[in-house]
Amino acid sequence: MSPVIAATGITKRFSGIVALDGVDLSVEEGERVGLIGPNGAGKTTFFNCLLGVLRADEGTVELDGRDVTGLPVHQRARLGIGRTFQRIELFPDTTVREHLLIAERTKRRTGRLWKDLVGLGRPRPDEIAQCDEVLDLLGLGALADEPIERLSLGQGRLVEVGRALMTDPKLLLLDEPSSGLDRSETAALAETLGEVQAERGFAILLVEHDVELVASFTTRCYLLDFGRLIAEGPTATLMASAEMRHAYLGDLDPATDAGESDGAGGDAGAGTGAPADAAPSDTAEPPAADPPEALEPPAAATDEESSS
Ligand SMILES: Nc1ncnc2c1ncn2[C@@H]1O[C@H](COP(=O)(O)OP(=O)(O)O)[C@@H](O)[C@H]1O
Ligand SMILES: [Mg+2]
Repeated sequence: MSPVIAATGITKRFSGIVALDGVDLSVEEGERVGLIGPNGAGKTTFFNCLLGVLRADEGTVELDGRDVTGLPVHQRARLGIGRTFQRIELFPDTTVREHLLIAERTKRRTGRLWKDLVGLGRPRPDEIAQCDEVLDLLGLGALADEPIERLSLGQGRLVEVGRALMTDPKLLLLDEPSSGLDRSETAALAETLGEVQAERGFAILLVEHDVELVASFTTRCYLLDFGRLIAEGPTATLMASAEMRHAYLGDLDPATDAGESDGAGGDAGAGTGAPADAAPSDTAEPPAADPPEALEPPAAATDEESSS
């Protein structure tokens, strides 16, 4: 059985910067895998190379044994890669259910997207049923008719997951799902994700800066630092590794973390403690994390553009 996704030798350069240097990663069916690393390590770049948002300079991406390296985003999506966006990208006054319907129609590409949007008043019963099944699965059933703008960030992120699930992915890619959420919201998201994944059986690649989330959610993970994979293995082993401590302690800048400068005292806990402490400062992260987001148009827009 071939892995759901297998990336081999992925290299990506941005005018002189080697953002990714020969990265190999694979995820088996139904597996929960983490890709972790400090800010600027190359996580989002890798995520985008898997999706087809970015073209790698070198390397290949195989989905279910099929080479998709040359395929654009929407074709990879149709072959089974689902993804979430960090923010709800569509129109704030559309409802939760409408968001999911749009995602489903975008995937099927029956007719033109904008016509579908205009015609959303008349979704078919089977579409609504599929949509409500996903919403119930995510515990969002009661919010189906709420405008998206009324939701909390945590609920919004679940809607993003729901949007991805409408296309019935074999692999769900999540980039920094904890971003902007507090501890309890992150824990709630992880719990729901775990339940949904157990029910549906898709594989998850969790791309995360937040060590705590990766530690609790994944069984295996890869550690990226300065564009290179420096360690991989069972999550528990990796979390306790010297590579992990090195990558994350090197990431902590005492100048920007003044209040916590005494936090490195306990070596045993440093592998998980230090980076988790650093996670809430996501909003203040260096510009490194910004350019890739700017490259990501809404899924719907991407699809529409590529069809014209
Ligand atoms: N579009 C881009 N143009 C130039 N440099 C980029 C671009 N995207 C990412 N980078 C650079 O590539 C490196 C990896 O960034 P990124 O993948 O965002 O890391 P992470 O997601 O792990 O924080 C950083 O040095 C970043 O500045
Ligand atoms: Mg990133």
